[in-house]
Amino acid sequence: MTAPFPNLPPTPDTAIVWQSDSLYLLDQRDLPSVAKYLQLRSAAATANAIRDMVVRGAPAIGVTAAYGVVLAAREAFAENPTGWKQGIAARISRLRMSRPTASNLFWALGRMQQLIEQLSAERDPEAELLAEAVKIHERDVADNMRMGEMGAELIDGPTRVITHCNAGALATGGYGTALGVIRSAFARGSIHQVYADETRPWLQGSRLTAWELLQDGIPVTLLADGAAASLMSRGDIGWIIVGSDRIAANGDVANKIGTYGLAVAAKHHGVRVMVVAPTSTVDMQMASGQEIPIEVRGDDEVLGCGGKQIGADGAEVWNPVFDVTPAELVDVIVTEKGIVHSPTRKKLEKLITN
Ligand code: MRU
Repeated sequence: MTAPFPNLPPTPDTAIVWQSDSLYLLDQRDLPSVAKYLQLRSAAATANAIRDMVVRGAPAIGVTAAYGVVLAAREAFAENPTGWKQGIAARISRLRMSRPTASNLFWALGRMQQLIEQLSAERDPEAELLAEAVKIHERDVADNMRMGEMGAELIDGPTRVITHCNAGALATGGYGTALGVIRSAFARGSIHQVYADETRPWLQGSRLTAWELLQDGIPVTLLADGAAASLMSRGDIGWIIVGSDRIAANGDVANKIGTYGLAVAAKHHGVRVMVVAPTSTVDMQMASGQEIPIEVRGDDEVLGCGGKQIGADGAEVWNPVFDVTPAELVDVIVTEKGIVHSPTRKKLEKLITN
């Protein structure tokens, strides 16, 4: 009998929990007003949860998909204990199609797939696949802590920063990428004010980033996305600090829609741009950002807000949920393997092969 809830209080650092043979996800669609877990027992339910934004943020999607493969293995083995590899393949394909942009999804599934290839087709694979998923999860947290310290080293504060979307514990295995740097720098006293774009249409900034930072006692000031350039023009913003969904080989960065506009405004105002992402976000198969698949989501997300329609009936909608910031607008990419200043293909190749 599985527990209806994980035996944990819902916090940003416990947004993805494997407990009592189930995957539990803190439902990010309802945060911060409702903090409740969804229990997942199948790969299809996991794929749907990723698609529907129960869990979001590139590294968190990767970690979740890895646990989804464990559920896929259990289902496939129950169906056919001597031929589970066929049954798992279709389920992994479904996980792969859940969202198109986050590199970490494909990276995590690739790692699970590599292990599957080494396993016997006639033995229950669940325990070994679970151990690998836990490794992916734990590695992500450790990488984030490392990047947090490395990124914080770059900030000669005290200064103010702007972040976009949510690249925190909720978007990762824990601690966060951009918010990891902000956490570490705040602890050192080099950041004393954090501005968070509200991040339409899903409001990851006002709902999730603000919730996370306030729980850590880090004061946060929310602003409408359109206010960021004006804020930069006042001259007291040191850095834009963001995460990424996929970084191309030439250093172009795909991230939440609005990041490109922030980077253009930052260049104009002499504000530096820091992208914080593990190397599982770097996709050396994509020569440039133009090749990165950009997810376009439903019209309802732009027409509505908080479950209520606010846009004019009959208006057409364009809703790409990521954009690409060209490498020349990025001052620094912080990864767990090291820091790349003014990214280029050559520098990223050197970092990845190290
Ligand atoms: O649509 P989302 O909420 O999944 O988009 C998330 C982002 O764009 C994040 O900035 C990115 O995934 C990095 S999270 C560490």
